[in-house]
Amino acid sequence: MKITLSVIKADVGSIAGHVTVHEKQLELAREILSREKERGLLIDFYVTHCGDDIELIMTHDKGVSNPEIHELAWNTFKEITEKVSKKYKLYAAGQDLLAESFSGNIRGMGPGVAEMEVEERESEPVAIFMADKTEPGAWNYILYKIFADPFNTAGLVIDPKMHQGFVFKVMDVIEHKTVDLRCPEEAYDLLALIGTPSRYVIHSVYRKDGLLASVASTSRLSLIAGRYVGKDDPVLIVRAQHGLPAMGEILEAFTFPHIVAGWMRGSHHGPLMPVPLRHAHPTRFDGPPRVIGLGFNLANGELVGPVDLFDDPSFDKTRELANDIAEIMRRHGPFMPGRLGPDEMEYTTLPSVLEKLKDRFEKVED
Ligand code: F6R
Ligand code: MG
Ligand code: MG
Repeated sequence: MKITLSVIKADVGSIAGHVTVHEKQLELAREILSREKERGLLIDFYVTHCGDDIELIMTHDKGVSNPEIHELAWNTFKEITEKVSKKYKLYAAGQDLLAESFSGNIRGMGPGVAEMEVEERESEPVAIFMADKTEPGAWNYILYKIFADPFNTAGLVIDPKMHQGFVFKVMDVIEHKTVDLRCPEEAYDLLALIGTPSRYVIHSVYRKDGLLASVASTSRLSLIAGRYVGKDDPVLIVRAQHGLPAMGEILEAFTFPHIVAGWMRGSHHGPLMPVPLRHAHPTRFDGPPRVIGLGFNLANGELVGPVDLFDDPSFDKTRELANDIAEIMRRHGPFMPGRLGPDEMEYTTLPSVLEKLKDRFEKVED
């Protein structure tokens, strides 16, 4: 039986700034999705949040990019905006709903999407990662570690099913095209691209025999809107075990809080801190960027779980290091590399500052 797992997320307003969602928003999402489960459109669902982003985790048999599923997500976010965010005057109500109305596919309309259609294996463990105050390129380092680095993933050396390696589909988000790169043989080409996470973003990962292993969200809001409209707090689905990385190998990739773009005003660099659900509300300088992970088993589409994957003291050292890095980055104030580089500032105030000063620049005569 083919099952589709759709994770669709949006920020449609939050409490106390861009900090966290309102319980009533989650309640309404659950109410709407359970109606659709009764009606038979969804097989199962789970609703949660990471910071100010509402995450709809849904299973069904309609395939990816299905208009009914996408419209359901769009209408859910709309209804939450109208009935809860506006009622309680939550901050930035409807923030990520960039389009006037739904037009067939939620991609490119603001919300983030990661979806995969799979033939359920005899047992189908999956991890779903959801981040706040960062962007899709944040998964590049993580996915490389999971699927290409034998120092992270012992199975690349030990498990005969993984030994041939994986294929990475990389998207150029500026030119809007993709390229498939095979690992380990093209690892250096892959790294040459994905080391620029603002432009080259890993879209999905396949085993060499074609088995889909992972899918990430890839939208960049600023490129949709042409101006700064917040970061695209990304989501990621990874299948685990039995010829794919073990859950522990997947999680091992998060033990180094690598520095990602996002944080305050989407304009700073900060460490990606893995946290349990109860800590999924970024406050210091609107951050630092953080990620939650939920583990499920799919059983004919039913979402069995979740397990709060980072609710484990073995990630305490990672969090401590993340706080040390956060401290170092904050001391830079408005200076790079605390602040993002000029390319990334293009969607904020930089063009208007340059415009204002353009007549005051004087030519240097040598
Ligand atoms: C980062 C983020 C926040 C806001 C900041 C300013 O992704 O959402 O850091 O950028 O709080 O928000 P406004 O301009 O809405 O006051
Ligand atoms: Mg927000
Ligand atoms: Mg957010």
